[in-house]
Amino acid sequence: MSSTVITGIGELITNDPDHELATGQLGLINNAAMIVDDEQIAWVGPAGRAPEADRRIDVQGRCVLPAFVDSHTHLVYAGDRSAEFAARMAGTPYDGGGIAVTVEATRSASDDELRSLLAQRIRELRAQGTGTVEIKSGYGLSVADEQRMLRIAAEFTAETTFLGGHVVPPEARGDRSAYVELVTGEMLAACAPYARWIDVFCEPHSPHAFTEDQSRRILQAGIAAGLLPRVHGNQLGPGPGVRLAVELGAASVDHCTYLTRADIDLLAGSDTVATLLPGVEFCTHSPYPDAGALIDAGVTIALATDCNPGTCNSSSMPLMIALAVRECGLTTEQAIRAATVGAAKSVRREDIGRVGVGCRPELIVLDAPSYLHLPYRVGVPVTHPIKIT
Ligand code: NIG
Ligand code: FE
Repeated sequence: MSSTVITGIGELITNDPDHELATGQLGLINNAAMIVDDEQIAWVGPAGRAPEADRRIDVQGRCVLPAFVDSHTHLVYAGDRSAEFAARMAGTPYDGGGIAVTVEATRSASDDELRSLLAQRIRELRAQGTGTVEIKSGYGLSVADEQRMLRIAAEFTAETTFLGGHVVPPEARGDRSAYVELVTGEMLAACAPYARWIDVFCEPHSPHAFTEDQSRRILQAGIAAGLLPRVHGNQLGPGPGVRLAVELGAASVDHCTYLTRADIDLLAGSDTVATLLPGVEFCTHSPYPDAGALIDAGVTIALATDCNPGTCNSSSMPLMIALAVRECGLTTEQAIRAATVGAAKSVRREDIGRVGVGCRPELIVLDAPSYLHLPYRVGVPVTHPIKIT
């Protein structure tokens, strides 16, 4: 195994775990170096003290940070809903109904088509600084289609999520309980071998999604099958999503657009991360979540794209950071932590989202001297993955 020294790092963001997640500290080292091998970071410290290595990368005073962790995406799909986006910008509200359009297109696509669409999306997100990505099913909604979505997703990531409980598909609308039976029975059995997580769209404000009771049944069945729970909650209005996520010890509750004081207090007393998806607010004309209130209560926040064909067709973590700073009340430091170590916590991982000995060498360099440029240069592609091998 060969070693590489990365030198000339003007600013190194480490997210040192000694700092509290919510404080916005970045564990910053100026004028730093590090040694990495193919599998892990072996040494981090001041530039002058770096040990010898087989290879050298000089980043010439630029800023280096852990790659972003995109902890919420729906990247396996076919079809296009740009007209739905245009209609929404003209005032049509979002209610989840468009999901059926993507389900039809995805069911009609071959494995090879889905694989090559996904591969292209992964190339796109890597260029924008994402290292680890979570990928959900949820546009198959039949036993065979959900299973093949997860099989294909698993070729690209270990963070795969079974989302048979996304919406009730058109052919099952006459008997919603029968669909919940299918999701918790045959579909779960077929999908569990390819998934680490189980998720559900718990949303009383959508006629297509699931009630609190149905969501609980779906998540509990997943837990019994060995999957770890996460929840789509509180997206379209106040609701039971946060409560259910905390009750079941979910790693994360995602969206959190509409939170009550009680929701914030529940999150603060739990180990459940609040994942904010500000690209969705941008693309659905919804109010942005109040991240400041969560931070003040001591809740760990993650930032993710939710990249999907309906509510946010962007895989840009830098854009999410810029939106979190501009619209949700986070400082730049808090937003970067949420996009790295906060998102890592939301997928219960300690080996990513940080720069420390033993962590995976998922690193990015900015075409900039400081992390402050991430939201400052909004829309400009300043992130580049550091290729170790
Ligand atoms: O996270 N809210 C539910 N699911 C996705 C949207 C899916 C779609 O509209 O295709 C989300 O926003
Ligand atoms: Fe989502």
